[in-house]
Parts: sequence; structure tokens; C-alpha cells
Amino acid sequence: MNHKKLSVNHLLGIKYLNISDVNLIFETADFFKELINRPIKKVPTLRDITIANLFFENSTRTKLSFELAQKRLSADIINFSASQSSIKKGETLIDTVKNILAMKVDMIVIRHPNPGTANFLSKNIDSCVINAGDGTHEHPTQALLDAYSLKEKFSNLENRNILIVGDIMHSRVALSNIFLLKMLGANVKLCAPRSLIPHHIESLGVSFESDFKKAIKWCDAVNMLRVQNERMNQNYFPSIHEYKNLYGLNLSLLKSINRNIVILHPGPINRGVEITSDVADSEHSIILDQVQNGVAVRMAIIYLLASKIIVPK
Ligand code: CP
Repeated sequence: MNHKKLSVNHLLGIKYLNISDVNLIFETADFFKELINRPIKKVPTLRDITIANLFFENSTRTKLSFELAQKRLSADIINFSASQSSIKKGETLIDTVKNILAMKVDMIVIRHPNPGTANFLSKNIDSCVINAGDGTHEHPTQALLDAYSLKEKFSNLENRNILIVGDIMHSRVALSNIFLLKMLGANVKLCAPRSLIPHHIESLGVSFESDFKKAIKWCDAVNMLRVQNERMNQNYFPSIHEYKNLYGLNLSLLKSINRNIVILHPGPINRGVEITSDVADSEHSIILDQVQNGVAVRMAIIYLLASKIIVPK
């Protein structure tokens, strides 16, 4: 493995990375992907590192993928669940994290419902921070594993047409994907009811199409997003039936475009709403490849950030 370094000491968002960082993460992930497909999947590389996983919001994929990545690298890990912690007794986030760091923890992985929490933490503690999703803001590891999975299909994303469909307004996955896909030279189009598109999003260099049947004909790959009802305090469309009729991906729509496209979904899926089961489970779907690649990509990120804090013996 090469000894290049990331330009950053934390992974707070895609917007803080440059193209050399992204290429380094992908090259390192290639190495780890090959490694975790061997019979012995574990390396002793990070046995001197302790990582705390702080999840203040529910997670299946991200939490388990980070844990597995850390275990494959032989790091020591502790898991914190907000609902069973002294946060419930009124302790602040900073106090909580400073107490965890006092136990000689080297790295924090944090998921939090409030945008900016990972940035805030990185400015107030003396430790490496990885953002595992901060509210509606960024989900950098998801975007990296999405782009890594697309590169396995297309090799190069330069001038590829990538469509992102659904609840863009509440999606940290969408924002991180936009930043990264644009950096990699892809053409990005968003498709949703206008009410689910943030104002001024086109200033990020993406286009918008409200007609899904038209937009899907344009794309090489489509990333279908879940409607995040838990982040909504009002209705953004008349009913779920209208939404699924206009923006749901089903087999007859897929067949109607008469060519193969790649289908992504960050999960969790609402089967029968944004995507039907026959499409989610079809040969065109790379949803489980995304999950598999997530471990290698997260191993790469943890390894590269840890290599900046480990003092060589
Ligand atoms: N894609 C994703 O972040 O899934 P989880 O919420 O299950 O971690």
C-alpha cells in the first residue's frame, strides 16, 4: 500500500475533500476489498487504535459497516447509544465526548440528527471525527461507497449521466452525492416534486426535471431515495399513492426505456413506494454491492485517518 496522506484530519463532508483525497480513498478501498474477500479477512494494522461509535440516530447499514470495518482492521471499539446514556440525564454532547476521550479513545464516528454536529465536535475536541450522517446535511461515507460502486460498473464517471430521484430536500445522501459526482466529472440531474427540491440547488451545477418518465430516459444510473417522513413536519405531496405513481421506479417503467441502467439505493428501502421489489432485486440493482463496498470504503477512510494520528515506532 502507498504512503500518501489525506489532506484532511477528519471526514466531515465531501465538500472538504479534493480529488486526490477521493482517488486515495478509492485506491485504498481496492486493497481492502481484495483483502476482505480472502479467507482471513482481518489485519493487525490498527490494533493500537480505539474508536468510539456514537449513534444518536437509528442506523443498520452505516453502524454495522463501520463496526465491521474497525474489527477487520483490529481496532478496539466501543459503541454508544444515546437512548441508554447519561445524555438522558442532561449531559451535553461535548461533555459526553470529552469523557469518552478521557478513556484514551483516538477516533470518533458520529451520527446525529442535527446538521453540523460533526463539524462542531471537530472544533471542540482533540480527536479525529468521522461524520456518519448529520441530519439533512452530509453523509460522506455513503457518497464515497456509492461512487466507488458506480466506478466498478463504469470505470470512469466523467460525463456519465447520474439521476437522483426522491426526497432531495431532506437527504444528506443527495447533497454528498452531488458534491462527489460533480468532482468526478459526472452530469447530475435531480428528479422529484418541486416541493422536495431545495431552493437554489441548481447553483451546485445540477439540473432538475420534474417528469420522472423523461428523466429516466436520460440517465446511465439512477439513485432512488427514500421519502424521509421522519424529517417532515408537513406534507410535501398530496398522498403516497400520487408519489409512487409519479416517482416510483417499477419494472414496466424500467422496461419502457429499452436499455440497461444501473440502479442504486442507499437504504433503507420502502419497497413498493420509491422502488418495487422486482426492480430492487433485479439484475440492474447494485444495492447489495453498495453495502458490500461500504465496508472496504470505510476501512480505507479509517485506515487513512488513523495513519495521520499513529506515531511511527
Ligand atoms: N444508508 C444508510 O445510512 O443506512 P442506515 O441509516 O441504515 O445506516
